[in-house]
Amino acid sequence: MPATLRTNADLEAMLDTNDEWITTRTGMKNRHIAGEHEATSDLAIAAARHALDNANIEASEIDCFIVATSTPDYAFPATACLVASALGAVGKPAFDMEIACSGFVYGISVAASLVQAGIFRRVMLIGADKLSSVTDMTDRGTAILFADGAGAVIVERSATDGLLGCELGADGREPSLLYVPAGGTRRPLDQAGLEERAHCIRMQGREIFKHAVTKMVESTNAAFAQAGLTPSDCSYFIPHQANGRIIDLVGKQLGLSSERVLVNIAEYGNTSAASIPITLSEAVARGDIKHGNILAFSGFGGGLSWGTVVWRWEA
Ligand code: UT7
Repeated sequence: MPATLRTNADLEAMLDTNDEWITTRTGMKNRHIAGEHEATSDLAIAAARHALDNANIEASEIDCFIVATSTPDYAFPATACLVASALGAVGKPAFDMEIACSGFVYGISVAASLVQAGIFRRVMLIGADKLSSVTDMTDRGTAILFADGAGAVIVERSATDGLLGCELGADGREPSLLYVPAGGTRRPLDQAGLEERAHCIRMQGREIFKHAVTKMVESTNAAFAQAGLTPSDCSYFIPHQANGRIIDLVGKQLGLSSERVLVNIAEYGNTSAASIPITLSEAVARGDIKHGNILAFSGFGGGLSWGTVVWRWEA
């Protein structure tokens, strides 16, 4: 994770906000912020190396690299191409997936499908975002939320399937609920756009909050039903870390006790596609997650997009 911390006290010094408001409305205390010259691929490479070390395998033993990100190094080439080559896996297939904060959930369904179809034996999925590069530090509605980070998993073929159930969804009718207005082909970035900070995230927070709770609950119930299970079978629920109150409401509506819902939002803020793999990797490092545990990864974000994957942990 990037070493520089942005605390609530730092935000108090920049904006009309305060620690009490941020803590009670979001659960956030710290965020990790990448350096000016650190790109998303740098964060992704560090996370990938960590995953390779943990699995005790070489990058050359990975058959395909996927990076879920909405803050790529470049419009193209894909960040995954840079990451794979930096790891020494030149020639291996590599591609990005852009589906905002749902990136890890969509990504793991794709990674598992490629493995289950027999196309690849091992796929590395990295969720990585440098949201600080698209955060408007004059907008207190978003500046307090977003941060940088990366987390990685390796999905490999095994005797039994990891992916037990999957429910994904999207609704593109109102992209402006949560989007970056300029810098794409709809509105190329120009001087006026820069002055308006239109290359930064704009969000209608209250609307997004309501949709997030509804869709995460619906998709979790649907993914468990598809697996022939119910949320009560869940060993650990690992939600996208967008807001502590969203996570609480979703956990309660699913009937999950708080110790089964993993939350690290106080330390990292919202790191978009990285938040679920960071949370998972911390739980694995603590030794919480055991062979055979049933996990649920649930995300919601721009698109709108959402989804939940139910996963049996085989490591
Ligand atoms: O990762 C992708 C998905 N993202 C999300 O799921 C985020 C979803 N939304 C949220 O997390 C919340 O809507 C926010 C944290 C963004 C905002 O919390 P809220 O409880 O929905 O607040 P609000 O926008 O309804 O604003 C309530 C009040 C307003 O003041 P008035 O109009 O009542 O006087 C805001 O101006 O709080 C004010 N406010 C703030 N006050 C202090 C908004 N931001 C701040 C702030 N500090 N940073």
